[in-house]
Amino acid sequence: MDSPSRSGVFDAAADNRVASFTESISFDARLYSHDILGSIAHAKMLQEIGILTADEAVAIETTLLEIKTKIEAGDFQTNIALEDIHMHIEALLIDELGDVGRKLHTGRSRNDQVSTDFRLWVRTALDNVDQLLLNLQQSFVNRCHDDHDVILPGYTHLQRAQPVLASHYWLAYCEKLQRDRQRIADCRKRVNVSSLGVAAVAGTSIPINRDTTAELLGFDGVAANSLDVSSDRDFVLESAFVLSTIAIHLSGWAEEWILWKTAEFDFIDLPHEFCTGSSIMPQKINPDVLELIRGKTGRVVGSLQTLLMILKGLPLAYNRDLQEDKPALFDAFDAITACLNIAAPLVAGASLNREKIAASLDKGFLDATTLMEYLILRGTPQRTAHHLIGSLVAVATEQNVALKDLPLEEFQKLDADLDEDVYGVLGVQNAIAAFTSFGSTAPDQVAAQITAWKERLGL
Ligand code: ARG
Repeated sequence: MDSPSRSGVFDAAADNRVASFTESISFDARLYSHDILGSIAHAKMLQEIGILTADEAVAIETTLLEIKTKIEAGDFQTNIALEDIHMHIEALLIDELGDVGRKLHTGRSRNDQVSTDFRLWVRTALDNVDQLLLNLQQSFVNRCHDDHDVILPGYTHLQRAQPVLASHYWLAYCEKLQRDRQRIADCRKRVNVSSLGVAAVAGTSIPINRDTTAELLGFDGVAANSLDVSSDRDFVLESAFVLSTIAIHLSGWAEEWILWKTAEFDFIDLPHEFCTGSSIMPQKINPDVLELIRGKTGRVVGSLQTLLMILKGLPLAYNRDLQEDKPALFDAFDAITACLNIAAPLVAGASLNREKIAASLDKGFLDATTLMEYLILRGTPQRTAHHLIGSLVAVATEQNVALKDLPLEEFQKLDADLDEDVYGVLGVQNAIAAFTSFGSTAPDQVAAQITAWKERLGL
C-alpha cells in the first residue's frame, strides 16, 4: 500500500526504506485518543459550516469512537506505509465510511493536526504530573507530624552549618515542588492554544470556524498566525524544561537520601520493599530506587537538549524534523511519571534514625551562629563577634568539646559581662528556639508553615 499522503503527482510508490525511515506510527500511536478528539471536533465544525451534513458528522463521530474502542482493545494493526497515527485513523474511517470519511480532512492539514493532538496530549500529561507532584508534596507534609521533634544538622557546602527542624527540611522540598507546579500551570497556558485550522502553512479558503473547534477541545484561545503556530514547538520545549527542573529537584533529594543512607551518615532507614540487594554481597541493602531517580534526570535533561537541537535553525514553518519532538518529550514524561510514582510512597515509608541523628548533633558547632548573634544583640559589632566566636570554636575544637560544654570563663574572655544566660542560646534546641526571622527554622515559624501547607494541599 502506498501512503495516502502521496497524491497523483507521484509516478512511483515510496521506497520501503523511505517508508521505514520516515514513519512515526511506532511512537505516535499514543496520540490516538487525542487525534480522535480533534477529529470529532473538526467534524462538528465542518457540519456547522455546511461541509458535512448532520448525518455525516454523526457517522464520523460514531465511527471514530468505534475506532478508539478497537485500538483500546488491541484490535489495531499498524502499517508503516500509513506513516503515522493520523493517517491510520483516517484510513480506518475511510474503510468504514468511504467518501464521507474522505471529507474529514477538509480545511486542515496534518501539520495543524499533529500540533493539535500533541497539545492535547501534553495538556493531559502536564495535569497528571501536577497531580503526582501534589501527592509527593502531601507525603512530605505528612512526615512533619511524625518527625516534629527531630532536629537535623543543616549543611552548606555539605559541611555542618546550623540546626534545622526535620519539618523545615520536608517543607523545603514542598516549596521546590510548588514552583514546579507553578511552572506547569504557566506552561499549560501556552500549551492550551488551538492550532487547529491553520492548515498546512497559510490557512485555508474553506470558511472554517476555528473558535468552534477551540471551544470544543477546551482550548483557551486560538493561535493567530498560521506560519508561527505550524512551526511552534515552544510548548514542547517549555514542557521539557518544566520536567527538567522537576528532575533536578528530585535528583537533589535522592542524592541527599542516598548520603543519609550510608553507614557514615546513617540518618535514614528506607523500607526494604523499596531497596535492592547485591548478587554477591549478602549484606547489601541498596538505595537503587533513589539512584535511578537521580539517574533518570540525565534522560529528562537529555530530552530537553535533544529538543533544543531539533528546533535550532528550523526555518518557518512545518519541517519534518518536528516529528522527532515526540520520542524526546514522551520519554521525559515517562521518566518523570515513573520517578514521582515511586517517590511518594518512598517518602512516606522512610524513617529517620532519631538516636543516630540526635547523638551527632553536638558535632559541628551548629550553634556558633546563634552564639555570635547573641553577642551582636548585646552590642558587639558583627565582624568582631564573628571573629571572637571563631576563636572560641578553635578553643572548643582543641578541647574536643561542644560550645555548651565550655566553662563560663571561656565566654567571659570574649566579653567580661557575659553570665550564665549565654548558655540559653547553646545546644541545638536552644539555637533552634533562638531563630525569629520569617522563613527560618524557628518552631513557631515552621508550625505556621505546616498549617499553611496542609491547607494548600487539602490535608
Ligand atoms: N508524521 C508527521 C509528524 O508527526 C506528519 C507530518 C505531516 N506533514 C508533512 N508535511 N509531511 O510530524
